Amino acid sequence: MTKPISTPNMPPEQNRGQRADSTQDTRLQWFREARFGLFIHWGLYSIPAGIWKDKQLSNEGDMQIGEWIMRHMRIPVKEYAPLSKQFNPVKFDAKAWVALAKAAGQKYITITAKHHDGFCMFKSNYTDYNIVDGTPFGRDVCKELADECAKEGLKMCFYYSQTQDWHHPGGLGNDWDYTFSQASFDEYIETYVKPQVTELLTNYGPIGLIWFDTPYDMALHHSESLMNLVHELQPSCLVSGRIGNNQGDYASAGDNKVPEDIMSNGDFETPATINDTWGYKSLDHNWKSTKTLIHHLVDIVSKNGNYLLNIGPDAEGGIPQPSADHLREMGKWLIVNGEAIYGCGAGNVQGVAGLRSTRKKDTLFLHLFDIPEDGKVRITLDETVSSASLLMDGLLLPFQQNDRNLILLLPVEGLDKIDTVVKLEFE
Ligand code: GLC
Repeated sequence: MTKPISTPNMPPEQNRGQRADSTQDTRLQWFREARFGLFIHWGLYSIPAGIWKDKQLSNEGDMQIGEWIMRHMRIPVKEYAPLSKQFNPVKFDAKAWVALAKAAGQKYITITAKHHDGFCMFKSNYTDYNIVDGTPFGRDVCKELADECAKEGLKMCFYYSQTQDWHHPGGLGNDWDYTFSQASFDEYIETYVKPQVTELLTNYGPIGLIWFDTPYDMALHHSESLMNLVHELQPSCLVSGRIGNNQGDYASAGDNKVPEDIMSNGDFETPATINDTWGYKSLDHNWKSTKTLIHHLVDIVSKNGNYLLNIGPDAEGGIPQPSADHLREMGKWLIVNGEAIYGCGAGNVQGVAGLRSTRKKDTLFLHLFDIPEDGKVRITLDETVSSASLLMDGLLLPFQQNDRNLILLLPVEGLDKIDTVVKLEFE
């Protein structure tokens, strides 16, 4: 029997993390403060970069993402695995990557330690199919990044594909080389996944979170015991909702999905791409605008979530220029407006078109995506405003409040066309 694996997207309700315990709130503190992280999808798939034997992955639809090339093209292990012998990313520079995340205003980095193709981007004693033992490069990029993150004060986090492994005979998803059996899947979880997760949580210093994915076929006991293992090894490490069976510390929204409303169970994270792929694809040039990316970040924080924005470095370890440019632009906006993002959650003005609100304790931030033509912002509020100012320069704004109706008057010039942030304080 093989398992149907049709779409990489989980329905959001499958991803909900609801396993509250007495220390969960403490564990989540840094995550709520951070709000913006860097996702890195990097592995052997960056070599074919979306093209295998002259056949291109299409640029249409969810299934054509670059890191899925082995499965889309049904590439046998004996043909895919030798890519490791070519993997020599001489441009990889942990210092530069961490510096880019910092310049973007991102507070954590989540890298694919093992993606569905099964290749390990860290030194593992449980397989030679890893970057240290299996490539001419021979360096542990996870270690170099972890050390640099520790130096620069970013949280280091690992993505780890716990169910799908197209290289390991016990993993899910490779139905062209292997036949699925429950017994070998169970054995794979016990004798491969758990030991590797142990390596990741033992050899790389404190880890912010483990990002499990596609929980197909995870039985409750698999998810529970994996969650327990993580917390035995590092009690403050978070676990993504995609561990399955509602066992995570927070919900993972669907890929590139910005929830319509505040999620009922609170904390969540939206993983997102800047173009249309996670792993590098040489032909994907469909870059989102900086404006769209900033709006997504704000929209997500205005609903209590985090934005995990991805880069897909190429086979040499180069970061696509448009990705780097967009991230730096976002960072410039955050230098001015970060106060309305970091440590903020949902504000109490919701559901107004062209406007989002975030809040930190007694300060409410209105994010104006659209500037009203008459320069007047009209909202309703239960609290009495004592001051209104532009976050970018502190300019005080005239306002009137009658009962719950508040009218703010914006200046005619000098507003931020992407998102003008108004800071409100209360009596
Ligand atoms: C999906 C995909 C995967 C990608 C992830 C990012 O689960 O299977 O390739 O890593 O989404 O959110």
